[in-house]
Amino acid sequence: MKIAFVGKGGSGKTTLSSLFIRHLAAVGAPVIAIDADINQHLGPALGLDETRAAELPAMGERLPLIKDYLRGSNPRIASADTMIKTTPPGEGSRLLRVGENNPVYDSCARPVELDGGAVRLMVTGPFTDADLGVACYHSKTGAVELCLNHLVDGRDEYVVVDMTAGSDSFASGMFTRFDITFLVAEPTRKGVSVYRQYKEYARDFGVELKVVGNKVQGAEDIDFLRAEVGDDLLVTVGHSDWVRAMEKGRPPRFTLLEDTNRDALRQLQTTVDTAYERRDWERYTRQMVHFHLKNAQSWGNERTGADLAAQVDPHFVLGESVAAAV
Ligand SMILES: Nc1ncnc2c1ncn2[C@@H]1O[C@H](COP(=O)(O)OP(=O)(O)OP(=O)(O)O)[C@@H](O)[C@H]1O
Ligand SMILES: [Mg+2]
Repeated sequence: MKIAFVGKGGSGKTTLSSLFIRHLAAVGAPVIAIDADINQHLGPALGLDETRAAELPAMGERLPLIKDYLRGSNPRIASADTMIKTTPPGEGSRLLRVGENNPVYDSCARPVELDGGAVRLMVTGPFTDADLGVACYHSKTGAVELCLNHLVDGRDEYVVVDMTAGSDSFASGMFTRFDITFLVAEPTRKGVSVYRQYKEYARDFGVELKVVGNKVQGAEDIDFLRAEVGDDLLVTVGHSDWVRAMEKGRPPRFTLLEDTNRDALRQLQTTVDTAYERRDWERYTRQMVHFHLKNAQSWGNERTGADLAAQVDPHFVLGESVAAAV
């Protein structure tokens, strides 16, 4: 199950992603945690000290390896150089599974020990000023999109992505790559305006969007969110002393997380698990092709000097059965 946490800057995306990841680890589920945000904070939120967080390999710098591996023997992709972030898998492509070992994880993922078990952590890598506003900016988060498009995850496997809600995820197909998107919103007008913008983009693509209220202080806050987002409000989280202690560098055991917040995390998991029933691999494949053709036309063909539309394998549908057959 692919899960995104999005929302306004500072709303609590990283905090809630990290709590959800800790919750999943505590119940023994296999988890890949991905930091796809411009600000790389997920590692520290999962308890890594500064040195270890700084040593995490950057996916954005390992694109050639990722592309080369995923291309496999797909005859429609002439070389890894002609792969862009939206190049879809086809016959011959290598797919990724959550629990396996493969060269992509060897190179880009690092284990993080949490209460209950280890998760794999992958990060896009820090962004420099030179990345902003130019195509290579996209290529960094592009590594995540490429992996999601080649990932065949099953019912009880979780890929949790800490994202920005910025317009960059709309320019690419990133925002359509998830079984469910949790939009973290504080009970403020700004928090809610990001929700509206997201909802607008999401509508045409059948993106499942649920709001997680954060830093909610009482009934008035809940009423405000309910009035603004209606039934999309899934659950609310209040101020957490556990989180505060963690940020002071003194993480308590996860079992000591406040009961109400633990309940909220359980509810997130239930919501994710229910989303499996609505999963549609054909639509998933169709949408990746849609964004690939769009990117090919707007910059990809020109940049690679190839006709990238020819990379689309018209008979290929990503899915658990394809993965099982390989
Ligand atoms: N429920 C909470 N209880 C206590 N502190 C919280 C809670 N949610 C968020 N915070 C604090 O608020 C600050 C911002 O949270 P966080 O870094 O998770 O937001 P973000 O949306 O990931 O921000 P950015 O856009 O910068 O990535 C952090 O210091 C975090 O510890
Ligand atoms: Mg963050």
